[in-house]
Amino acid sequence: RPQLLIDTDPGVDDALAILMAHADADIAGLSIAAGNVGLAHTVRNACTLVDLLGSATPVFAGCATPLVRAPAEDAAFVHGEDGFGDIGFPAPKAVVADEPAAQALLRLTRERPGELTLVALAPLTNLALALRLDPTLPQRVARLVVMGGAVTGHGNTGNIPAEFNIGFDPEAAHVVFEAFPSFDLVDWEATLRHAFDEETFDAWLRAGDHRADFYGRIAGTARAFNRKHDRRGIIVADALAMAVAIDPTIVIRSEKRTVAVELDGRLTRGATVVDWTGRLGGLANARIVLEVDQVRFSAMVRRALGLAA
Ligand code: BDR
Ligand code: CA
Repeated sequence: RPQLLIDTDPGVDDALAILMAHADADIAGLSIAAGNVGLAHTVRNACTLVDLLGSATPVFAGCATPLVRAPAEDAAFVHGEDGFGDIGFPAPKAVVADEPAAQALLRLTRERPGELTLVALAPLTNLALALRLDPTLPQRVARLVVMGGAVTGHGNTGNIPAEFNIGFDPEAAHVVFEAFPSFDLVDWEATLRHAFDEETFDAWLRAGDHRADFYGRIAGTARAFNRKHDRRGIIVADALAMAVAIDPTIVIRSEKRTVAVELDGRLTRGATVVDWTGRLGGLANARIVLEVDQVRFSAMVRRALGLAA
């Protein structure tokens, strides 16, 4: 089974990604970032998930703000004020580990050099901080998979070309994209191309186990938001990135390109700039995922919700 270290800001689609990881991989730890909602909520939500799964996965609290410019707009209007659809879950039993996320990322990769795939489903603040503490981190991870960016400028934030995870903390994304010689990038535009049909997904939710019930409940606000904004289907960015992390052979079409982050720009801060024409030369850092096998992706999501694949 793949061995994963997950940096996340749960978050509705983060939750589905973590359910997938639980079903098909081993999770060495959850390092938690602020993003979709504030850190207190994302940490609590991670603990709620650990309770739901009955696992002993350690939860590490990370940075509460972006590296440089704070505060940024969060995504409570999509994920709910508490990030989990405002259901009002009881206080979780799982406890938060007594180690900052960035240090935990460094320690776990030192204990298991070359073994762990790092899956980044949130603003890249924790990873950037870890890299500043120890620039050799990339040498110790098997792979890095990032959910982030909008490779042809069709973003999902107030800054038109910026995707949320990159736009929330552009400096952190810049640090990570410069430091890792290669990583898989699953962007927002790929996410839209791999949405699930609502009726099909609802049938899965009805047929699944307690995980499906849970997911159906927390996803309500996000689904209502998407409908209102004419975004069609079940859009689960982090789940798509998780599919690529669990099984890289699920990728059908990709392009290796240099990707950089715009840090200034009156209208473009947080945009991911892709060298599509190869003008910059040199070695490309990102494998941009353009298409995955939707049948295998569906099977992973079904298993995560407690159905036979
Ligand atoms: C990304 O931003 C968050 O709202 C989601 O959880 C996902 O990680 C999509 O742009
Ligand atoms: Ca996320």
